[in-house]
Amino acid sequence: MEFGLSDEQRLLQESVRRFAQEEIAPVAAEYDASGEFPREIIAKAWELGLVSTQVSPEYGGVGLSSLDGCIVTEELAWGCAGICTSIMANDLGLLPIAIAGTEAQKQAWLTLLTERFSLIAFCLSEPQAGSDVAGLQLKVSKEGEDYVLDGTKCWITNGGEADFYTVFATLDPSQRHAGICAFVLHADTPGISHGKKEDKMGQRASETRVVIFDGVRVPAAQRLGAEGEGFKVAMQTLDRARPPIAAVGTGIARRALEESVAYAQERKAFGSPIGSFQAVQFMLADMAKDVEAARLLTHQSAWMVDQGLRASKHSSFAKCFATDVAMRASTDAVQVFGGNGYTKEYPVEKLMRDAKLMQIYEGTNQIQRLVIARELLR
Ligand code: CAA
Repeated sequence: MEFGLSDEQRLLQESVRRFAQEEIAPVAAEYDASGEFPREIIAKAWELGLVSTQVSPEYGGVGLSSLDGCIVTEELAWGCAGICTSIMANDLGLLPIAIAGTEAQKQAWLTLLTERFSLIAFCLSEPQAGSDVAGLQLKVSKEGEDYVLDGTKCWITNGGEADFYTVFATLDPSQRHAGICAFVLHADTPGISHGKKEDKMGQRASETRVVIFDGVRVPAAQRLGAEGEGFKVAMQTLDRARPPIAAVGTGIARRALEESVAYAQERKAFGSPIGSFQAVQFMLADMAKDVEAARLLTHQSAWMVDQGLRASKHSSFAKCFATDVAMRASTDAVQVFGGNGYTKEYPVEKLMRDAKLMQIYEGTNQIQRLVIARELLR
């Protein structure tokens, strides 16, 4: 058993760490305040091969393993979780094509993502179907050789900014799982429009919008997998997308730890640095051990994905644990900083706001526990 990174992985980590330190961290507070979409930063990340990392070289991509993708993601999230989410949403969006696409579909759509800078977004959640994917209502009807989509998706990361969408729709809502189909389409297909940008508590540099489908015609060649297979495609996508979410949690928690250690050495109370007090030391020690444990679970779940093993339970372990750690560590970081931590003059209140979303998106942590319990009792 080998816990260390290879030389290549270390180089990759160092180069993304530099990118996060130089290009992301210095502007993170600005993007947080303005809520502006960080298109220029994402474009720079694309130049470095940090966007659409899961596209394999035969389609022009860098073809990072899931483990390598998690190494990249932890570093980006250290810089800013919102900007990181905008970058990694592309891998989530393209996974249904990588998982269920035919060779011709992969050639057509994955190559588009690597030929020029472009974004793809994953459209699964709906106003009345977030946790309950099988309850989705976006209707797909057959018209000759085409399909027509009608309905609304919500909480779509990069909605309104993406060039392409992968979309899940149902032929018949009463059939639940068995009725769902997956599609890939151009975002400028007639009939697609977008709602207002959500004004979020945290991760404000990531764009989240409603996407409306009104009589959107899609050729059958753009269906991913067979009719009725869409639910499983969505679940397999989430199995592979949750380790990187765990890596975001690890990145936020590591930043909280590093900021807290530095502050504890510098800030004085009762004539000594606050790091000399056991009350603060215990908070730092808990953060440090939790960051390590979160990273181990993250890397293990990614390793399972890379081995082609079904990773549902381990992806849920990692997503749930690492994002709970992010919430705890960032909350404790605010405590270490005291009154200063509660102001926008210091970076830790942003970490706390950003961490909260991690316990909610890509399956709430209650859903992760449900997945784990079902696997245990199956
Ligand atoms: N792989 C393959 N097949 C799977 C599977 C998996 N991981 N999970 C389930 N299935 C199969 C089951 O074996 C079952 O197959 P059969 O019908 O052949 O027996 C079928 O799918 C139905 O499974 P369940 O009975 O478990 O389905 P369910 O409806 O009870 O519950 C759920 C499933 C786990 C609750 C699921 O709905 C879920 O994961 N919900 C959370 C949704 C989510 O994570 N949304 C995130 C949106 S994306 C996002 O947030 C991104 C962002 O913005 C950045």
